[in-house]
Amino acid sequence: MTGATSGLGRRFSRLLADCGARVALAGRRVERLEQVAEEIREAGGTALPLPLDMRDAVAVKGAPAQVEEGFGAPVSILVNNAGIPDAQRAHKMSLELIDAVLETNLRGPYILACEVARRLIELKQPGRIVNISSVGAYHYAGGGAALYSITKAGISRMTEVLAVEWARHGINVNGIAPGAFSSEMMDGMIERVGDITRHFPRKRLGQPEQLDGTLLYLVSPSSECVTGTVVVVDDGQGGR
Ligand SMILES: NC(=O)c1ccc[n+]([C@@H]2O[C@H](COP(=O)([O-])OP(=O)(O)OC[C@H]3O[C@@H](n4cnc5c(N)ncnc54)[C@H](OP(=O)(O)O)[C@@H]3O)[C@@H](O)[C@H]2O)c1
Repeated sequence: MTGATSGLGRRFSRLLADCGARVALAGRRVERLEQVAEEIREAGGTALPLPLDMRDAVAVKGAPAQVEEGFGAPVSILVNNAGIPDAQRAHKMSLELIDAVLETNLRGPYILACEVARRLIELKQPGRIVNISSVGAYHYAGGGAALYSITKAGISRMTEVLAVEWARHGINVNGIAPGAFSSEMMDGMIERVGDITRHFPRKRLGQPEQLDGTLLYLVSPSSECVTGTVVVVDDGQGGR
């Protein structure tokens, strides 16, 4: 699980651990990783904190081997969840911010998916990859998230093409495109632009646990034939 230190990734990590998965927790904030691991262990689960910067391509490529060493088994479920907003008008973005968004949201997840798949293919084992996209991949109304939208469109397309690429190897690649859900990223956005829920028909933010069923479906045998699909879960917040 990338981005396991907060928001959706933290919730997803707990959820998968509660369902019996051994969960490798990736992120940069080491103390947070230890905290989440402790929570999981206290609840009877197994967790491996894995300090990782998604911008460090070499470290990202090496991460699956580290997990394999820690658990004695290859990564069979990858949740590509880490991501950052741009929160900046396109024409005002620094090169540093452009690199950060592209590397965190697209290059890192791509490298990781490819390395997880490479190892599974070598071992002739099936697997599941779930990429966290966004409704921003399909809809943009302005306001300083242009590059974010581009990277999430890339994540949705990556989901489709890698599903085709690895279907013959028994690796399913799907995605979830959340609307606005409560998290640190969302808190930051609300601080910047004010209460966005007044524009939503249901006048509320989603809560991370309201994505549980979608994630569990995409990693369970029930979705054996579902691959290359991105499930939009947005509480009807936006247009289509
Ligand atoms: N919340 C929403 O409404 C919403 C809607 C649509 C899509 N999403 C997507 O959902 C995913 C999770 O976001 P969230 O809302 O839960 O936000 P969040 O609370 O800010 O969590 C983001 C996570 O990504 C990790 N991360 C960021 N940069 C990283 C880097 N360079 N290397 C490694 N990890 C990094 C962070 O960990 P560290 O800081 O510890 O590294 C953190 O765990 C993102 O891909 C986001 O685009 C969220």
